[in-house]
Formats: sequence, structure tokens, C-alpha cells
Amino acid sequence: MKGLILAGGHGTRLHPITLGVSKQMLPVYDKPMIYYPLSVLMLAGIREIQIISSPDHLDSFRTLLGDGSSLGIELSYAEQDKPRGIADAFLVSADFVGDDPVALVLGDNIFHGAGFTGLLEQAARNVEGCTLFGYPVRDPQRYGVGETDAHGRLVSIEEKPARPRTNLAITGLYFYDGKVVDIARGLHRSARGELEITDVNRAYLARGEATLIELGRGSVWLDTGTHDALMEAGQYVQVLEHRQGVRIACLEEIAWRLGYIDRDACYRLGSRLANTAYGRYIMEVAESGRALPPTG
Ligand code: TTP
Repeated sequence: MKGLILAGGHGTRLHPITLGVSKQMLPVYDKPMIYYPLSVLMLAGIREIQIISSPDHLDSFRTLLGDGSSLGIELSYAEQDKPRGIADAFLVSADFVGDDPVALVLGDNIFHGAGFTGLLEQAARNVEGCTLFGYPVRDPQRYGVGETDAHGRLVSIEEKPARPRTNLAITGLYFYDGKVVDIARGLHRSARGELEITDVNRAYLARGEATLIELGRGSVWLDTGTHDALMEAGQYVQVLEHRQGVRIACLEEIAWRLGYIDRDACYRLGSRLANTAYGRYIMEVAESGRALPPTG
């Protein structure tokens, strides 16, 4: 399975900050935003990942993450010259994806919570059709909203409905089988001129091949697209990391726990950041050799 991180966009809701820097490079407490979606793909067991961003910002991601080899993964980069919509990711990365199954995650979405890694593994194992994630929200009118039958099969998707049938917002994490590039090629631009991910999902729905996994109350799905949301996400990460003594989306720890790098390599990655609590945490994890499951 391949992985895509969509890390372009206008970021207009974060102006003036994002006039000069990519949104997905902004800090969410102790690490750049893109670490969070990257950790999600890694926890799903995906090792071949392409990062899509705008021509202005692609180099900064290359500088930050390189070819991924230090984490035991393969990272490549693709340019989206204009934000043409979320489903445009499959056209931009068509050669990379080919007809493999693929997981797409939006570069500004943060997921965390009990049991989340197990759900990711479940979605990655199911390579038929598409698997989406629904998260209960107070204001479903602002989102794509999903409705399921008793078996978790998706029966309807509504985009920003005035009267939502459920409170399940469809999150920015999508798993598709090998048909997705062809489906994206057949899409027409929407009224706002974009290739809509909802139209891809509707194509799977029409074939009866769409599954929605509900993220329960123990899970957290945060968006970081506005000044307040970004600040709140940082505070959430700070509180949790201080209280529990574990780090969310620590890529080095995840790579080590998944067996992609050995303990010495993990320690060395931490020691390069030894001036920070983040770096010292990585060194401690490597030293302690704790064989815990990944924490997400
Ligand atoms: P959005 O939140 O829809 O848009 P945005 O990030 O451009 O921000 P704003 O609304 O403030 O102008 O995008 C969701 C994510 O998908 C975000 O990480 C940016 C990314 N994205 C792309 O990379 N390319 C695109 O064509 C679109 C539509 C989004």
C-alpha cells in the first residue's frame, strides 16, 4: 500500500502566517504539523509515501524529512502547481500510486486516541473499495457527513447538509483500492473549480464499496486550519505529553517500535536534537528499550 500526504493548499485562514510559510510546516507544540499525518501513515504500516505540496514549499519538506531513509521509510515529493482540490492528489501522484491501494491523509489533520492504531491496521488490511473515518462532531453542517448501516457500510454522504442525518463528519484520512486513480481521472470539476474527494467517495458508495469506521469518543480528530484551532491543537498535545510522559507523533519512536530502525539508530536521531525535550525523549525511549506497542 502507498501513502499520500496532501500538504499544499492556500492556507488563507491562517494569513498572514501562511503568506511566507507552508501551513503544514507550522509548529503544533513541539514538532512540525506534517509529523502528525506522517505518523498516521507510518502507524498504518505504510512505508512508501509521497508528499504533495506547492512549488514554493516543496523544498522545505525535502529539507525537513529527506528521503525518509533515516526513519526506514521511502519518501518522495510531488508538486501540485495550484490547489485544484483534494482528489487532484490522485492525478498529481498517478505514477507513484499506479494501481496499488493507497491511503491519503490531509497534511493539516491530527488523529490520536485509544485503539486508533488498530483501526488503521484494519483499514490497511481491507484493500477492497474505500474506507473512510467518521468522527462525531457538534456541528456536522460544516463537513461531509456519513451515514452507515448496521454493518458499517456507508449508505449516504452529504456535503455540508443543512439537516444532517448523523453527526459523523468524514475526516481527512481515506483508504482506497487500486481503482482510485481511474476514478479521479473521470471526475469533473465542481462549482468551486475543484476535484472533490466527496465525488470519489460517492463513486465507491454507488458501487456499494464504501466503509465508514466510526472513531469513538476516546479518539481525537483535530483540524489546525485556523489560528484558534492551531493553538488548541498545540495545547492538546502539550497537556497530553506533559501528563503522560509520552510523545504524540514521534516519528523516530514509531520507526523504532515498528522495527524499521534499530535502537542505536533511534538513539542517534534523538541525540541530534538533544537540546530539546523531544530529542531527549527519543534517546530515553531507545535507552529503555521498552517493547510497548506504538502509541500513535
Ligand atoms: P483546506 O483546509 O480545504 O484548505 P487550505 O489548507 O488551502 O486552507 P484555507 O481554507 O485556509 O485557505 O485543505 C485541507 C488540506 O488539504 C490542507 O492540508 C491543504 C491541503 N490541500 C492541498 O494540498 N491541495 C488542495 O488542492 C486542497 C484543496 C487542499
